[in-house]
Amino acid sequence: MISPATIEEIKNRVDIVEVVGDFVTLKRSGSSFKALSPFSNEKTPSFYVVPSKGIFKDFSSGKGGDAITFIMEIDGLSYLEALRYLANKYHIEIVEEQSDESIKAQNKRESLFIVLNFAKDYFKEKLLEHEEGQSVGLSYIKEREISEESLEKFELGYSLSLWDGLMKEALEKGYDKDLLEEAGLIINKKEEGKTYDRFRNRVMFPIHNISGKVVAFGARILVKDKKQPKYINSPETELYNKSKILYGLFQAKQAIRQEDNCYLVEGYTDVISMHQTGVHNVVSSSGTALTEDQIKLISRYTKNVTVIFDGDAAGIKASIRGIDMLLEGGLNVRAVALPEGEDPDSYAKQLGTSAFKHFIESESQDIIRFKTHLFLDETQNDPIKRAGVIKDLVTSIAKIDDPIKRTVYLKECSDLLGIDESVLISEQNKILFKKGSASHPQPSDPMENGFAEAFMPAQKSIEKMDILKVIELQERESIRVLMNYGKSRITDQELQDQELVAYFLTEIEEINFINPIYREILEVIKARLQDGELIDGAYLIEHGREEVKKVVVDLLTQRYEVSENWEKKYKIYVPKESELLRDVTYSNILRLKFRVIQHLIETENKKLKNVTEETEVDQLLDEIHELKKIEMTIAGHLGNVTVK
Ligand code: UTP
Ligand code: MN
Repeated sequence: MISPATIEEIKNRVDIVEVVGDFVTLKRSGSSFKALSPFSNEKTPSFYVVPSKGIFKDFSSGKGGDAITFIMEIDGLSYLEALRYLANKYHIEIVEEQSDESIKAQNKRESLFIVLNFAKDYFKEKLLEHEEGQSVGLSYIKEREISEESLEKFELGYSLSLWDGLMKEALEKGYDKDLLEEAGLIINKKEEGKTYDRFRNRVMFPIHNISGKVVAFGARILVKDKKQPKYINSPETELYNKSKILYGLFQAKQAIRQEDNCYLVEGYTDVISMHQTGVHNVVSSSGTALTEDQIKLISRYTKNVTVIFDGDAAGIKASIRGIDMLLEGGLNVRAVALPEGEDPDSYAKQLGTSAFKHFIESESQDIIRFKTHLFLDETQNDPIKRAGVIKDLVTSIAKIDDPIKRTVYLKECSDLLGIDESVLISEQNKILFKKGSASHPQPSDPMENGFAEAFMPAQKSIEKMDILKVIELQERESIRVLMNYGKSRITDQELQDQELVAYFLTEIEEINFINPIYREILEVIKARLQDGELIDGAYLIEHGREEVKKVVVDLLTQRYEVSENWEKKYKIYVPKESELLRDVTYSNILRLKFRVIQHLIETENKKLKNVTEETEVDQLLDEIHELKKIEMTIAGHLGNVTVK
């Protein structure tokens, strides 16, 4: 386990801008940074990093938190894994006891990572050091012209032709048999009482996750054997979901971002070959159809994809339908087909590095044009087929979200097919109409509340809203102010000088918060204050439960603060909230009380409808009268809180 001191050091050292910057391109915007959300396919940036608070907030997905949360979210890691990642990034040494006990004690995912890493090292060692590995594995790799550099970069290995080579060594090292099975490394046939290595006598291709950890293996046979599959792959495990992994992405991600393009190929060897020709921005979907998750993965790094099709016409036609998904994912798609019978690996070898690179760059076409050419020739004399192709093309175009892009493509299609543009447009409109032109509901602006709320006229549309909701909003606003400015000192003629937290807590002593999370936050603040410690959002982000943390992050990132400079942009003077701290706090307390009173009045009024005893009615009316008086007083005070 990681010691608390190490965790402390990691937290002190991380710079959220650096950490996030490894995954997204951040643009400075005032005191914060802005980017396209890495968690969705948005077109206008709504992802913010606020360095002063050490947090990020993604308004399109609602995710937010500190650097650790970010790494957990983006790489799908556990808390401990994220800490390890950050420790590694900042060269912070993690001191850990590695006894047999601790191996067992670590959580499952951690153990799986460890055993897979062991297996990778084992296969590597066998390839390089073992006699069979050298004579069979290494000589095959040499024959395939895989360089030593690639061998290192992709951590290739070799599995011996033994039934239990890996299993024996793993058990000796103290790894658990069940764990080996769960990692997909051994097969356990319980009925037959047989346990044996899954991978035998094959070249091993480790499959890495986005942060470079081995999660699975692909294993290639070395001989021609019709009875055995060419590749055996790891089964799905807790770490390996094949639809969410792209082979080579770890090695490619930086280049993809730099080149702002991602090549998509079919196989493991294609990826490696392309690296050797100097093309590093390449990934493979491991021979299967592309999935939505994989597309999302790519679009974290670039919006441009170039698909390289193996030269086999039937294969292209079969897989091209999957390409529509790339278009739907909002990506710009280009495609290039290799000559018949070639794949990137074979063709790169045939042409040589620079000619191959030139080929894929110069021959790639945008996908609509590519598709048009692909189907056009064979349908030239067959009007029915031709109609089918046209429909298919227009369907692809209709998948594109951007209307301008659609128009360009339709024009191009009309030129290539010699069909009147208006025919294509009306065909497209039919499809769009069927799609219900599914208006994507815009997420409501999360920044709307908050600051604006503090200055909103009190009575506005109050009747229309559920009063309890309004109270909750007001509670939220109170917590927001506390989280942001709790430690600030405020001054007042009567109050003199004191911390906002203290002032606030005394003022609302008699009020119980409805919302459980806000109540919890308030309790923590109170408890800390009793120990003489003033806390604000930073404390809760560090020590709070996940739910609390999330709420606090939301409250710490407000639109007015992270969005562009309103003053410059709209020539509106927005008073800085911190400048108006006293007023904001005061009006906030008043509003909270005001709403609570309103709720009480409402409750009493409801009661009134159900009572029949005259004395009870009188009593209720008295109470309501008293409450109304308080309401009036508060309203009067509220009227005095002016917006400067
Ligand atoms: P290929 O048959 O094109 O293999 O399958 P390859 O990568 O080009 O390998 P070489 O160059 O012939 O050695 C493409 C991909 O499909 C998956 C693998 O991911 C492979 O890289 N595949 C193929 C399997 O998973 N199992 C198989 O039996 C065959
Ligand atoms: Mn191939």
